[in-house]
Amino acid sequence: MFRGDSEIGALQPAFLNRRQFRIASTAAHRASIYMAISREISDIDTRFYKAADPFFAAHLDQALTYDDVTLATLYSDILPRDTQLDTVLADSLSLNIPVISADMDTVTESRMAIAMALNGALGLIHYNMEERKQLSEVSRVKNHVHGLIQDPIKVAPEQLIGDVLKMVEERKFEFRTFPVVDDSGKLLGLLPGHVVKQRYAKRKVIESLTPRDQIHTIRKKEIAKDPIARADKFFTDHPGIHKLLVVDDDDKLHGLFTMSDVERITQEKKAQFKPARDSKFRLICGAAVSATRNMFGELDRDRIVTHVGALVERGVDVVAVSTAHGFSKGVGETVAMIRDAFPKLPIIAGNVTSAAGVEFLANAGANAIKVGQGPGSICTTRVVAGVGIPQLTALYITSRAAAAKKVSIIADGGITKSGDIVKALTLAHAVICGGMFAGSPEAPGQILEINGKLYKQYRGMGSLAAMKAGSAARYGHSTSAPAKVAPEGVEALKEATGPVDSILTPLIGGIQSGMGYLGAVNLAQLREKARYIRVSPAGIREAGTHDIVEVKTGRGDGGQ
Ligand code: XMP
Repeated sequence: MFRGDSEIGALQPAFLNRRQFRIASTAAHRASIYMAISREISDIDTRFYKAADPFFAAHLDQALTYDDVTLATLYSDILPRDTQLDTVLADSLSLNIPVISADMDTVTESRMAIAMALNGALGLIHYNMEERKQLSEVSRVKNHVHGLIQDPIKVAPEQLIGDVLKMVEERKFEFRTFPVVDDSGKLLGLLPGHVVKQRYAKRKVIESLTPRDQIHTIRKKEIAKDPIARADKFFTDHPGIHKLLVVDDDDKLHGLFTMSDVERITQEKKAQFKPARDSKFRLICGAAVSATRNMFGELDRDRIVTHVGALVERGVDVVAVSTAHGFSKGVGETVAMIRDAFPKLPIIAGNVTSAAGVEFLANAGANAIKVGQGPGSICTTRVVAGVGIPQLTALYITSRAAAAKKVSIIADGGITKSGDIVKALTLAHAVICGGMFAGSPEAPGQILEINGKLYKQYRGMGSLAAMKAGSAARYGHSTSAPAKVAPEGVEALKEATGPVDSILTPLIGGIQSGMGYLGAVNLAQLREKARYIRVSPAGIREAGTHDIVEVKTGRGDGGQ
């Protein structure tokens, strides 16, 4: 980076004479002067490339969205790979990457939430399902591979192998090896997977197990300090052994390590973006809740608080009060009710597009506010109801109110490429994506083949079908007669894509590139440094590929 003397001479600034410049150009000072000169922001630039406040003030009469603006590049000594993407949404809710999968019934259930958390992000499990089912979806995420399985599935000595097989099939277990314990929880042995077969169905577990004295165990007190490191060492020292059981001093079973879980966790330690985990090393998970009303049209306080309590018991890290109109009495009361009952639980609430909406939800007790009315790929709110604000202007307005209220904001909907995320993150703390993930195998729903192409269903939560399935309350309608109202979303298809990992990798790369261009090492610097300029329709055309025959896409849209 450092140049030779002749080049430095060419850089002599007007405010130094030749002698002063020579003195200043001692080896110790050269680099810093060069840096100071090259970092100076030119007056010419500031007239065109404006910071958020002057930029949006200059566009008071026009609501703008992502493609309406572009970001100016700035002096940078930051390499994209060195940027940090962690974000804080609430005191006890941080993500390692600022991306959230939407609480929609064609986007986020446990499989998506697991994939998101493994990548350092967050999934919000939708609420278009029975409350009981939502609880078990949350449990699935919270119990997913956390090294020590604290409550492993056990079998009893008198059970038949046939019963064990039935349990495996009914509960769709992907494993067949089970610890065997007596009534008091004392370890009797291990039922190996190779005997859990139809041909042995009539045998009792006790006749087929590997006895206690032949299985490997470790005492609970021996793993207290660093359970994973201890288990990792055990598996290295015992080639061929894949399971390690944890017992207490009375030989009662307290847990189980499997080698594959331990290996995965050891691998994670080397990854740049680590999985998003809670203090107990479980993956983080969010769940959407609705402002449920009883048959008299009143908010159903007991039901809402009981359900959120059950979610908390399952370990949920955040609840999202998700509605189309967050600046409304029912949503405010629901947030306040949850805040009152669970003072420490992070709450996301929305959606709003005004400063007053942010203040209202923040005052009710929300920590993070969802911003977006009508930008979503399946949304028709703006067409049907004539309301909603293009996303970038909405983010600017709400971000100023959020900063004053010390809450975070989340840009929800309308993201179609990584560049949109970079622009959103100049104002927001995270983004929510629905359509970007809806074609992945982790999204709920079957793959459909139409004319040789593969698709997955993707529908708005305000579409008629989704409202019938339960989301009518989100749009302020009664669940009993959703057919009588105007839908605010469509039922659609997304082309089937690769797994979530393969979508997130280029998105993360794109965010990091954007930060590198702006010289921002973290998201706080990105918000501070961003400089915007309006783009003309010809400029938008110029931004995409043009005048070529594209043979390989590089669209920054996660390969969709
Ligand atoms: P994307 O663009 O990521 O948007 O597909 C996902 C977001 O869209 C919102 N959403 C809706 N908005 N009618 C609407 O006006 C709907 O039926 C609908 N369903 C989802 C929601 O905020 C989601 O995160």
